[in-house]
Amino acid sequence: MSQTTHPSSPNTRILFVKRPDGWPDASCFQTEACPEPECGAQDVVVQALWLSLDPYLRGRMNAGTSYAPGFVLGKPIVSRVVARVIASRNDRYREGDYVWGFLDWALRMVVPRGEGLYRIDPALGRPSLAISALGMPGLTAWVGAIELGKPTPGDTVYISSAAGTIGQLAGQFAKQTGARVIGSVGSDDKRDFVVKHCGYDAAFNYKTRNMDEALQELAPNGIDVYLDNVGGTTLEAALRHANVGARFPICGMISRYNETTDPGIRGMQLMVSKRIRMTGYIINDHVHKLPAYQQRAAQWFRSGAMQFHEDIVHGIEQAPAALIGMMQGEAMGKRLVQVAAA
Ligand SMILES: NC(=O)c1ccc[n+]([C@@H]2O[C@H](COP(=O)([O-])OP(=O)(O)OC[C@H]3O[C@@H](n4cnc5c(N)ncnc54)[C@H](OP(=O)(O)O)[C@@H]3O)[C@@H](O)[C@H]2O)c1
Repeated sequence: MSQTTHPSSPNTRILFVKRPDGWPDASCFQTEACPEPECGAQDVVVQALWLSLDPYLRGRMNAGTSYAPGFVLGKPIVSRVVARVIASRNDRYREGDYVWGFLDWALRMVVPRGEGLYRIDPALGRPSLAISALGMPGLTAWVGAIELGKPTPGDTVYISSAAGTIGQLAGQFAKQTGARVIGSVGSDDKRDFVVKHCGYDAAFNYKTRNMDEALQELAPNGIDVYLDNVGGTTLEAALRHANVGARFPICGMISRYNETTDPGIRGMQLMVSKRIRMTGYIINDHVHKLPAYQQRAAQWFRSGAMQFHEDIVHGIEQAPAALIGMMQGEAMGKRLVQVAAA
């Protein structure tokens, strides 16, 4: 075995050490020094660059499996990570390659036989986009806003958490179809951001405005497509303002992820009278569409026709607080933790 040494910073990782009851806090995580990885036969050693912070990671902190297995206590947190190959004894990877995979929150690690790594094509755009706009989150926005939402010119499309990863992309995709696009966000800065940069015709701050009044004003002809990222009272308001035949792609329900009780959704009978088609989806079922999506979407971001905003926190030790802060709404755009220079 050959050992990979990095005098610049000692290797560090983040362990998951306590299941939260409600909101997670710092005591759920432990930052510790760890040995430098060793590159065995057929193995690949990578230097992590960007860690992706996603709402579904909260579900993985619970015991059992929802659609992704629960994290194991005492083991590192795992999420999508963009990394650079720093040693390889595997013919498929060379030093300097950019890759992504579901990897530990660690600065450097060995990937046995390189399994679970995906090479990033540098021609598509900056490497971090492989786990955001040109990766599964981008495809999630596409499937929800376009394939399931099926907006047509003149429709009104409403997207919650509009300034987030999915929201900023879904708004731009929906706008391309000739629909009117409106969104809800948690601050006035986010409201201005989505209207200026993400294709939204209008947006409102759900923390300071009555949702019924805002939807009445911004969607006077009713909602034809509601892409739900939030659930709860936001979904209830969308049901009240939906048109007959509306499509409701249900992407996520972040307003409930840290709650210990489930008060349910009121007004579901409106699905019958309004013939609403509500479709829950998980992007893992659509992964075969990723290469075609990447080829299509890469040119939009390269040409500047579309924008994608990253909210970058620096330093692996900041990752737990950055994850909690993301769920509390402090990020503008896609939250990543950069742990090394690219
Ligand atoms: N179905 C799938 O396969 C799939 C794949 C990826 C993501 N998702 C889901 O898609 C949704 C968005 O994910 P994302 O990665 O794009 O996250 P994100 O929107 O970038 O970040 C989460 C945002 O949720 C908002 N939020 C938190 N609590 C809220 C509440 N109580 N009410 C309203 N908004 C709240 C916050 O924004 P504000 O400041 O605006 O409140 C926060 O910034 C999540 O529900 C996620 O689970 C589903």
